[in-house]
Amino acid sequence: MPRTQNSGVPQEARTLSSKTGSFAVAILAAGKGTRLKSRYPKVLHHVGGKSLLAHVVAAATQICPAQDVYAIVGHDAQRVQEAMAGAGIGFILQKEQRGTGHALMVGEEALSQYDHLLVLYGDVPLISPATLQRLRDYHLQQGSVMTVLTAVMEKPYGYGRIIFRNNGREVEAIVEEKSLTPSQRELKEINAGFYAFAAKPLFRHIRELGTDNKHHEYYLTDMAAILSKAGEKVVALQAPDAHEVQGCNTRQELAEVDAELRMKKCQQLMDEGVSIYLPQTCVVDCDVRVGPDTVIEPFVHLLGATRVGAECRIRSYSVIINCELGDGVLIRNGCVMDDSRIGSRAVLGPYTHLRPGCHIAEGAHMGNFVEGKKLKLGKGSKAQHLTYLGDTEVGEGVNVGAGTITCNYDGFGKYPTVIGDGAFIGSDATLVAPVKVGKGAYIGAASCITEDVPEDALAIGRGRQVNKEGWAKQKRQKAGVRSRESATP
Ligand code: UD1
Ligand code: CA
Repeated sequence: MPRTQNSGVPQEARTLSSKTGSFAVAILAAGKGTRLKSRYPKVLHHVGGKSLLAHVVAAATQICPAQDVYAIVGHDAQRVQEAMAGAGIGFILQKEQRGTGHALMVGEEALSQYDHLLVLYGDVPLISPATLQRLRDYHLQQGSVMTVLTAVMEKPYGYGRIIFRNNGREVEAIVEEKSLTPSQRELKEINAGFYAFAAKPLFRHIRELGTDNKHHEYYLTDMAAILSKAGEKVVALQAPDAHEVQGCNTRQELAEVDAELRMKKCQQLMDEGVSIYLPQTCVVDCDVRVGPDTVIEPFVHLLGATRVGAECRIRSYSVIINCELGDGVLIRNGCVMDDSRIGSRAVLGPYTHLRPGCHIAEGAHMGNFVEGKKLKLGKGSKAQHLTYLGDTEVGEGVNVGAGTITCNYDGFGKYPTVIGDGAFIGSDATLVAPVKVGKGAYIGAASCITEDVPEDALAIGRGRQVNKEGWAKQKRQKAGVRSRESATP
């Protein structure tokens, strides 16, 4: 199976030798994200199928053990912590969000135990572990107190700009957009929001930060000027790819980054042998995996932790969320599938709906307007047309006729239906749960089945047919006479 996008860092890079000193990563994630105009904290907004913060944490934990990674949380802290609970990282609470510098001030107790810190912003999700590693290594190699990751941007609006000392690579200051002089506004080298610090000098000077700026906040960026003035070494490392450091402050920026991640994902899949027609129309989340020689048609969504085997075909307009597909599966147009498993060579659709908890076995078929919920459909079984199978276990080689309905809900509870191997369910049958149909049994069309059916039996539960000879003809004749009578003046 392909590796995830954030891989590519060798295992030995995660632990540093003792002579370089201990390292922690602090991810700033306490801000509200006012510019998004959202009820939810900024870092929980999604791009490429997972939260901004999850992307940054994934990159950080590639280069640092999770127990030395801290997220600084504040706005809606509980929700952020819950969302990241599985990551194994630590959390530091910044109750009041008084700026990026203030975020580190509140982290002093936990973070000052380390020799070095990497500080990352939680709203810059495209950062690669390789770039973080380069920042850390450059910082150590330079022996600097602060190393700032920068990038050259054609449209630098909104980012802090780097002011260099004597045109060299030593940094004199970082100036925020709102404080730029007209000539500084032309500067294209921006502050990416990633820094390496030597922890001791950082915390020795951090109280010198002030709030004399447009937002009355403690700007972490001001540490560059403070440290530089104090005679400490502050240097810049330029990221080769400005895309990696694109921040997500507005809905537009979220959309741009999302599009970029998805296009990269499609490219990665194509590199791994997957065919994607019109990839710009497909929505594939970062953690999805697809086997070689699978063909994905236009307008397909593959979301969450979906795994698709080799040699499958996913036809247009299907939306597949957290599903596992074996090899050689055919998903025809317009299927919606959630949290389900589909065995090899199964055929679904068009317009099949799998709600959570379905397991469709090898070679089974489900056709148009067939809905399953907690459905186990056995090997080679078929439900091809207009059917609902809920809380149902269907054995192998069963044929479920058109329009079959399992009545699994009586307004109070949900009940199971069990259909044995080789049974035949006639069209338009209603199976009132809880009910069992034995192996090899046969259900007459349009039957309402309320009692268990023994193996190999025939069950018919419907009104008997009565034929009244000549009735229709007489009716027509009577109607004809009357209409002629009413037509005479
Ligand atoms: C920041 C930088 C800017 C840089 C840009 C890169 C500052 C003052 N400016 O600007 O130079 O070019 O990032 O993307 O640092 N946060 C907290 N606590 C707070 C405030 C913010 O944890 O009190 C977090 C936010 O959740 C966010 C990150 O810090 O993840 C950055 O804050 P944000 O307000 O987005 O800074 P920018 O204006 O983008
Ligand atoms: Ca930002």
